Amino acid sequence: MSVGKSVHHDSAVGHVTGTSVFIDDRPRLKNEVFVGVIGAPVCAGKITKIDGSAALKVDGVYGVFTANDIPHNNWGTIVPEQPILAFEKIGYIDEPVCVVACRDEETFNKVKKLVKIEAKEEKPILSIDEAIEKKSILCEAKPFIRGNVDEVLKKSPHTLKGAFECGGQEHFYMESQATIAYPLENGQIEVHSSSQHPTETQHVVAHALGLDYSQVVCIVKRMGGGFGGKESQAAHFAAMAGLVAYKLNRPARLALTKDDDMMMTGKRHPFKNFYEVGFDDNGLITALKVHIYANGGAYVDLTPSILDRAMFHADGCYYLENCYIEGKAVRTHQHSNTAFRGFGGPQGNMTMESIIEDIAHYLKKDSFEIRRLNLYGKDSRNVTPYNQVVEHNVLPELFDKLHKDSDYEKRKAEIKTFNEKRNGKLRGLSMTGAKFGIAFTTKFLNQGNALVNIHLDGTIQVSTGATEMGQGVNTKMQQIAATCFGIPHTNVVMMPTSTEKNHNTSPTAASSGADINGGAVFKACEDLLSRLRWVFNELHNSGIQYDTIKTMPPVDLSVDLSHIEFVDSMVVDTKTKKSMAFKDLLKQAYLNQFSLAGYAFYKTPDLGFDKNTCQGRAFNYFTNGAAVSEVEIDEYTGELKVLRTDILMDLGRPINPGIDIGQVSGAFVQGMGWVTTENLFYHESGKLLAHSPTTYKIPNIQDTPRVFNVELLENHTNTRNVMRSKAVGEPPLLLGASVWTAVKNALFYRSKGEVPHITSPATNEVILMELNRYE
Ligand code: MTE
Ligand code: HPA
Ligand code: MOS
Repeated sequence: MSVGKSVHHDSAVGHVTGTSVFIDDRPRLKNEVFVGVIGAPVCAGKITKIDGSAALKVDGVYGVFTANDIPHNNWGTIVPEQPILAFEKIGYIDEPVCVVACRDEETFNKVKKLVKIEAKEEKPILSIDEAIEKKSILCEAKPFIRGNVDEVLKKSPHTLKGAFECGGQEHFYMESQATIAYPLENGQIEVHSSSQHPTETQHVVAHALGLDYSQVVCIVKRMGGGFGGKESQAAHFAAMAGLVAYKLNRPARLALTKDDDMMMTGKRHPFKNFYEVGFDDNGLITALKVHIYANGGAYVDLTPSILDRAMFHADGCYYLENCYIEGKAVRTHQHSNTAFRGFGGPQGNMTMESIIEDIAHYLKKDSFEIRRLNLYGKDSRNVTPYNQVVEHNVLPELFDKLHKDSDYEKRKAEIKTFNEKRNGKLRGLSMTGAKFGIAFTTKFLNQGNALVNIHLDGTIQVSTGATEMGQGVNTKMQQIAATCFGIPHTNVVMMPTSTEKNHNTSPTAASSGADINGGAVFKACEDLLSRLRWVFNELHNSGIQYDTIKTMPPVDLSVDLSHIEFVDSMVVDTKTKKSMAFKDLLKQAYLNQFSLAGYAFYKTPDLGFDKNTCQGRAFNYFTNGAAVSEVEIDEYTGELKVLRTDILMDLGRPINPGIDIGQVSGAFVQGMGWVTTENLFYHESGKLLAHSPTTYKIPNIQDTPRVFNVELLENHTNTRNVMRSKAVGEPPLLLGASVWTAVKNALFYRSKGEVPHITSPATNEVILMELNRYE
């Protein structure tokens, strides 16, 4: 059985040998043109003039196109309010204003400066505080309310009030936004895009150009990383390539440079969350009030859904008897912020983890004790603020096992002694948890379809709406199909994602790619299996062989044929012990005129969150995990090292434990980068200064924990998902927060009893400034 095995990623060899094809690796066609994008010169204001005439005189420049050239210049996943190319009003600096079609990139670099964009500048709104003050609200959500928070807060033995602030994050995918658009016959277009959402890309390209959806096909072979950055924001760049292809009737290639990509595309939302928490002498939380503010940037994009998920995760792993959770997003003159691994979840969860760390410091107790005390229970204290029961809750088990396995108490004592020595180094230790809701919070998105074609040599091609971005969704689906038919996984080939085979698909996002598409593959295989079992039964038990006169009766699903099994490339009747090779059965099915294609539709069952009452089943299930991190700070420079991290995750029965451990490790490191070194630094005018690897610091191999243990919990209870697995993609990113709370814990050894206050990311400067405050 292939499911459960750590077979290697289906692109592993291609990636390490450099033969995997990404968009810009596609061979150039003879008449292909390069599409360069030029951005707005200021953060806010009105475009008064775009003059491409000088550029157009240069040899190899074929066109300069603006908003005026686009039949329908608007797009947006939730609200179609964002221009593809800015028309008059500027939303943010470097926002795409015009595209230049030219011979090649060299020509574009030569003529870029010749395109004159003039603007009448206005004063921009650049921060959450400023936006709140100016009432620049982008959207707000109904609050989650349980109990009477104000009353309980008044009566609570202790209260703490404050604001938790975290920065944005650049996706830093290796492959920038890229699309090649090929004009076909009769006005049709084929778009190859680095997109997590081929269906939306297809729709945006068609809408922009005034084509029918059926005239556009979007194909995604793979992405060099997406991390949420290509969920919505691949689409308008595809439309720019589509525009040039349509205007010139030539293939058009758009592939942003890293700098342009970083300046032009949205990032993780910065948040500022105001809270008041009440608790007793033991640290048990009595009431929590949170006002969440997200910086949406210039346009709506996915912000309302991200805000929702932040609210859904503001409880962290902890039961809140009385709570009031409110959310607003503000509109600012920045790149339009977008999906990023965790999708608001990390910002909600970390607020709670920060609060817990503060309660511990305030009460001079260890934070594990406070966490354990407030944790969701198994049979009681197990209902979320939005009234969803946490079923099969493994959090107590996870926390206790990790506490023991990581030697938490012993190391805590050692750290205390170490810090008392005052040798210029300061250590801290902290455990945080993750309870991540699996399902799109936008209910209708929880659907997918799959096409499974069995060929007569016994090999299989599978097509779904899932897109491969490195996370291994294709390998998992390969394993699911192989397990269904009892054949080696190498006999299953995952085909490029294409809107022509799988339409009306959802983005590969919300960690649910393998759940939804894998679920559809499973159903399509079941459909094929029932047909193949029928043919087997007719051949062996009814004695019908292929001939030219008789026809096999159609499948009768009321006959139970579950005793016919598919193992080791054989088909076996476990009752009669009769068997035949899988391949031979396929031939018989074909000769007897049975379809060897399976198509299935899957929707996640039982979801029902009521947006008006803010109550109900928002999620299919929860993926949980916990991490303990130990950090060391250089007290003279503020430099931070992660000495050790231990992670324990519950992924149900993993389809591929090897891939999942890779996802857990990668997500943790990405989360750790977000809360430590990844600092989006802007000029006071609003321009992003950290727009390349030289100025924006993601973790490298030396920044990863010196000791890094990742373990998976054994859990067979998740009957709610395909093969009892659990989604893995985003949840472990939340655990990066343990590094940040460990920094807080370290600072407490020097803060003279004060509750340390830092923002995220805890860069060396942030740490050093906080240390200096205690002098
Ligand atoms: N892993 C890799 N290697 N590259 C990526 O871009 N994206 C993450 C996660 N893991 C990503 C990744 C995000 S944001 C999501 S939502 C999930 O993968 C999407 O894939 P899945 O639903 O198939 O897990
Ligand atoms: N997660 C990721 N992407 C989404 C979601 C979500 O919950 N809802 C809409 N797009
Ligand atoms: Mo992931 S942020 O849901 O693409």
